[in-house]
Amino acid sequence: MVQRVRGLVAPGRDEPVRVETVVVPDPGPGEAVVAVQACGVCHTDLHYKQGGINDEFPFLLGHEAAGVVESVGEGVTEVEAGDFVVLNWRAVCGRCRACARGRPWYCFDTHNASQPMTLTDGTVLSPALGIGAFAEKTLVAAGQCTKVDPLAAPAAAGLLGCGVMAGIGAAINTGQVGRGDSVAVIGCGGVGDAAIAGARLAGAAKVIAVDIDARKLQAARSMGATHTIDSSAQDPVEGVRELTGGFGADVVIEAVGRPETYRQAFYARDLAGTVVLVGVPTPEMTLELPLLDVFGRGGSLKSSWYGDCLPSRDFPMLIDLYRQGRLDLDAFVTETIGLGDVELEKAFGRMEAGEVLRSVVVL
Ligand code: APR
Ligand code: ZN
Ligand code: ZN
Repeated sequence: MVQRVRGLVAPGRDEPVRVETVVVPDPGPGEAVVAVQACGVCHTDLHYKQGGINDEFPFLLGHEAAGVVESVGEGVTEVEAGDFVVLNWRAVCGRCRACARGRPWYCFDTHNASQPMTLTDGTVLSPALGIGAFAEKTLVAAGQCTKVDPLAAPAAAGLLGCGVMAGIGAAINTGQVGRGDSVAVIGCGGVGDAAIAGARLAGAAKVIAVDIDARKLQAARSMGATHTIDSSAQDPVEGVRELTGGFGADVVIEAVGRPETYRQAFYARDLAGTVVLVGVPTPEMTLELPLLDVFGRGGSLKSSWYGDCLPSRDFPMLIDLYRQGRLDLDAFVTETIGLGDVELEKAFGRMEAGEVLRSVVVL
């Protein structure tokens, strides 16, 4: 039975979002229909709306979501109706070289649902990041659903689907932060704050938050930062060295995506330390470094893609830690809003003004 539900659609480049009736087909083979309970508002949704990702309008926005599986198609074994799940961007194949080597986040053959969701006139919708969860229901590939503890609050759980996972994963998966380590995080937005929480979770002794915005530094402290550096007032490389006995941090996580902060991250690490790049640069950005510094400092320079996460491993584990009170996912939820166009536009505005970590649409 095809269903008609409400969803938030970006109709065209820079046009305001609209509440539309979305036609959700029955799940086909390998697909699942999920009744969305909560979905976070992310920068990527705004980029879709502005046409910054691609031109495949109209978009069904929303991609940091948790909900309950309503029905599954033929051959689905991962989840069943009634399961509480967190959604991820893409189902991986499990067979390609990357999957076989235990790096499914680089899978060559990922997929989303094969059937389209449409408007009532048949116009095909492009779901944001293959999810499209600013809607009462959405159709995804079953492999995009990860079952987690149903007692977790949906607004918090859904955040693991994107930015919060990227940050936590940068610390625990890519950076391999260890007990007693010193960690510096440059850029304390949602991703950087999640990296701070991840570093604390991994047992870091010192977590140094770096930002140019004093409000962000204050928030970073409540996320678990032990020290802060206002890099609009102080050289952050010197600052990090001062706080680490003159050496630099064991792990430096860059969560801005600019050449100057990449450079700071590079020099703020201890000899043989690790730099984790999470901030996404634009295509024209370049950075020049003296080769002797690259060679002579040792250690490693890594980029972190989706927190190098394995949803089936990381989502349930992080939800368990959240339920035990060891990971405060609720702290990332600044406000909850309804499924409305005006509400979403306001949330985009607040996000751009840097006033919120996450606004979450709750259904
Ligand atoms: N030095 C330090 N901090 C900076 C600088 C700078 N030169 N410029 C900006 N910042 C800070 C901002 O003040 C803000 O707190 O970086 C933070 C960026 O946060 P958000 O804009 O909320 O972005 P976020 O969602 O956290 O994502 C950060 O990670 O995954 C990527 O694409 C994402 O590149 C983006 C980055
Ligand atoms: Zn694969
Ligand atoms: Zn996102």
